[in-house]
Amino acid sequence: MSEDQQRSMEVLLSEAQIRTRVAEMGREISAIYGDEALTVIGVLNGSFIFMADLVRQISSPVRCEFLGLSSYGSATESSGVVAITKDLGSSIAGQHVLVVEDIIDTGLTMKYLLENLSTRHPASVRVASLLSKPARRQVETQIDFLGFTIEDRFVVGYGLDYAGLHRNQGFIGVLAPGRFGA
Ligand code: IMP
Repeated sequence: MSEDQQRSMEVLLSEAQIRTRVAEMGREISAIYGDEALTVIGVLNGSFIFMADLVRQISSPVRCEFLGLSSYGSATESSGVVAITKDLGSSIAGQHVLVVEDIIDTGLTMKYLLENLSTRHPASVRVASLLSKPARRQVETQIDFLGFTIEDRFVVGYGLDYAGLHRNQGFIGVLAPGRFGA
């Protein structure tokens, strides 16, 4: 990102704030699972950076899997119609699953995903989300481990994108008003 772009972006969560909270989440998760192995499923594309940092803060034995989802809609609104673009590489039957998501907004994506995963007979399913926007919720959503609750603003960085960009930015920022069509 150019310095001009960085200047126009309001920082909502700094790299240091994220690092501290992700470490705490890792400890919370490790305390629940103990020595029990868990299968961490990262929801692509948005969760890849959060997942990479989170799993390194978990002391329980961890398997890493990825599931690609794309939700139809405009760049800033999900429609709830979700397609699996990359499925899991192996069975999760009998395993303790932790779904890792970047942000829960309307909750429609997570609802779809949890229904889909339950048909695969895991031993348990929990959800870790870095961010949640409760003001936007359309369906009640399970979140067992939450990083931050944020207001109804469109955020980018630390894996989150707008039109495919900004995922590589270390902090979470709000695009200046007028820079996107929300
Ligand atoms: P939901 O189905 O409305 O809960 O949407 C979940 C997905 O929408 C997330 O995994 C993100 O990909 C995307 N999303 C929702 N809000 C934001 C945001 O503020 N910034 C970037 N992506 C978002």
